[in-house]
Amino acid sequence: MSDTLNSVSEKRQLDVERVREDFPVLQTKVRGKDLVYLDNAATSQKPQVVIDALSDYYTSSNANIHRAVHHLSEKATALHDQARETVRQFLNAASTEEIIFTRGTTEAINLVASSFGGSKVASGDRILISAMEHHSNIVPWQMLAERAGAHLDVIPMDRRGVLDLGRAEELLTERTKLLSIVHVSNALGTVNPVKTLIDMAHSKGIPVLVDGAQSVPHLHVDVRALDADFFAFSGHKVYGPTGIGVLYGKRDLLNAMPPYQGGGDMIRSVSFEKTTWNSLPYKFEAGTPDIGGAIGLAAALRYLSEFDMADVEAHEHDLLTYATERLQNMPKVTIIGTSPDKAGAISFIVDGVHPHDLGTFLDHDGVAIRTGHHCAQPVMDFYGCAATARASFAIYNSRSEIDHFAESLENTIKIFS
Ligand code: ALA
Repeated sequence: MSDTLNSVSEKRQLDVERVREDFPVLQTKVRGKDLVYLDNAATSQKPQVVIDALSDYYTSSNANIHRAVHHLSEKATALHDQARETVRQFLNAASTEEIIFTRGTTEAINLVASSFGGSKVASGDRILISAMEHHSNIVPWQMLAERAGAHLDVIPMDRRGVLDLGRAEELLTERTKLLSIVHVSNALGTVNPVKTLIDMAHSKGIPVLVDGAQSVPHLHVDVRALDADFFAFSGHKVYGPTGIGVLYGKRDLLNAMPPYQGGGDMIRSVSFEKTTWNSLPYKFEAGTPDIGGAIGLAAALRYLSEFDMADVEAHEHDLLTYATERLQNMPKVTIIGTSPDKAGAISFIVDGVHPHDLGTFLDHDGVAIRTGHHCAQPVMDFYGCAATARASFAIYNSRSEIDHFAESLENTIKIFS
C-alpha cells in the first residue's frame, strides 16, 4: 500500500458510470427502484477500496499501536503512521505533527474550544462565528463563553446566504481571540470566502479555525495556501468511515495548547506527583485511537486523489446547476440559499408540503434526501422555516439521477395539490 497520493499526471478521468462501479451500495434497490442517493452532506457512500482497507486491517493487521514490539503491533503502527502521512499530503500540511486524529469535525472543534479556548479566552474576550454555522461550530463556543465569561459574535448574512464581510471586519475586534468559520454551509451550500476572512483576521493578529466538513469532499483544500490556523474535517463525508476525523493545527499553536483529554499515549511520563506530555500529535490523542478508521480514511483520501479535484468540482457544480434549474422551474418550490458561490447541496421548501412528507414520498421512489433543520437551527430561524429538504451531491451522482429526483418531486407536489 502506497502512502503517496497520485501526482497530477496520474489522475483518472471522472467517468461517472465507472465511478459508480466503485461503490457497491449504489447497486441497492429501494422498494424495487434504483437507489438515488442524494444525502451526501449527511454522509457519503464508501468505495470498495475503503471497505477493503477496513476489512484487510481487521483480517491481517489488527493490534494496538505504539505499545508492543510484536509483529502485528509494528504493522498496525506503520499503517497508522502512513495514514497520518496521507492526510498530511492531502491537506498539504507542513508536518504530520500538525495532523491530529479525532472522532470527526465536532470533536476537532471541541478540542480547540476546550484547549485553545480554555487557555487563551478570558472574561470579556470575544469569539467570532457566522450566521450559517452548524451546531457543532456554535455550541462548543457557547459552552466556552459561559465558562470563561466571554462573548460570542456572529457575522450576519443576507437573504441569499452570503456573509457581510464589512460587518465581519468590524466584528474582528481587539478582544476577539478566534474566528471560527464554516467553509461550505451544510444547510445552504454557500462557499464562504475563507481566504479573505483569514487574511482579514490575520491582519489583526487573530487566528482562524475553518470547519471543512462540507468542503473537503468537494473542493481542493490546501491548508498552507489558505494559511488556516486550524482546519477540521470528518472522514465519513469524504468517502471514509464514520468515527474518524482530523484536526489540522499549526505546530506553534498546538505546541502552546494544553492537552484536551488525559490518558494513555498522550503522556511522556506519569507519576503521582507530576505528568509530562508527549510530543505532537500524540499530546492530543489520549487512549487507543480508531486505528482502522484512520486506515480507512487514508484509503478514502487516496481514492479521491485518483481524480483531479478540479474535475470533481466541475462535475458536482454541473449537478448543482442542473438541479437548481430543474427546481427553479417548479411551481411552489423555493430554494433556500442562493449565493452565487455554492457547492455540494441545494436546500428547498415546497409551499404547503412539510419537508418530512417530501422526504417520505421521495423515498418511495428510491430517492434519499435529507429533511429537517440540518443541525443549523439559527439558519432555519433566519429563513422563518422549521425545516428544509436538501439534496446533496457526490462524485458518483449523475444528471439522470437529478432527473429522477426532480420527477419524483414534481409528482409529490401534484399529489399534495
Ligand atoms: N451535518 C450533517 C448534515 O448536514 C449531518 O446532514
